[in-house]
Amino acid sequence: MTLHEYVLFDPLFSYADAEAMVRLCERFGGYGMYSAENEGGPEMGEGLTQRHDAVLNYLRAGGMHGAGEPVSVLAARTNYFREEYAYGTRPLIEGIEPFLFHEGFVEAARQIHGRRVIEPAIVFANLMVPGQELALHTDVPEFRGVNRKMHPQWLLVAMRHSGLFEDWRMPIATGVAWFHDCDGGEFAFYPDGADGPPVYHKVAYNTALLVDTDSVFHGVDRVAPGDAVDLPALKPGMQLAFDGDGRWSVRDGDRAVADYRWEELRFSISWKAYCFADEAERDAWRTHTDDLSLEETLATMVEDLRSRGRITGDTPPSRDLALMIIDEYIRFPPPVAA
Ligand SMILES: [Fe+2]
Repeated sequence: MTLHEYVLFDPLFSYADAEAMVRLCERFGGYGMYSAENEGGPEMGEGLTQRHDAVLNYLRAGGMHGAGEPVSVLAARTNYFREEYAYGTRPLIEGIEPFLFHEGFVEAARQIHGRRVIEPAIVFANLMVPGQELALHTDVPEFRGVNRKMHPQWLLVAMRHSGLFEDWRMPIATGVAWFHDCDGGEFAFYPDGADGPPVYHKVAYNTALLVDTDSVFHGVDRVAPGDAVDLPALKPGMQLAFDGDGRWSVRDGDRAVADYRWEELRFSISWKAYCFADEAERDAWRTHTDDLSLEETLATMVEDLRSRGRITGDTPPSRDLALMIIDEYIRFPPPVAA
């Protein structure tokens, strides 16, 4: 038994239903780039990126396996392609319903959090090309009153790791599923915490994992690690598009930057669901009757930082305080050698 329980599905679907997910991915057609580089909100920590915690750690470690590379290459490695297939319980593409309402995911979500009322929040696809990898991180959690729409993502992550706001946290379960075999691109995660050993899940057809990814550090190892891949200079705004007949291309406007065969890519679909203890808790979340404010959040953290001896005199200015919060509360697993 690990510190954080997780559930493995092998297989997740019938063969026909798994095939339908691959066809759905093709039918969706085009995938925009998801970048961790966008600026944080104006409220605090000016100039920090949304995931300043993960970016700092990744740059410090020099990538997933500590091979020192220029920042521009590391950025191209980690800016992958992503689009939504469902939002809330609303499908955004026909055919996603068996995944969105997968009974096995719902049951597993109840199991890992010990909470009865499971409500799907989002389904999205992630596509990566050879040479890409995903920096170690925990996902952005959500609290009643403090969420990623209004507040910087690194702050929400630090709130989870601080353990100070658990009464307001909405536990989320994340299912990740794969519908092809892949060279490299293992899902690496730490179910025993940052000090425990990593577990590597090989990307294999029709398998899935359900994990509390808001609490468990995870990342994606390099796709096609053995090949001397010429990673194109991927930039936000580019698109990965299905060209038919098992072919994909990265496009910069009308120009094709690179093309790939299906089997060269890494494709996963993520499912996230809120896990409520009961209907009353779900209603408090919906009607905002027990919300936390940003002011209360920061006051609690500053008080805690004083009790830990990190702050002794005046409260530091916003940016310094932000960096202190990241440094104090978010303790990453140590780098793993190649
Ligand atoms: Fe994640």
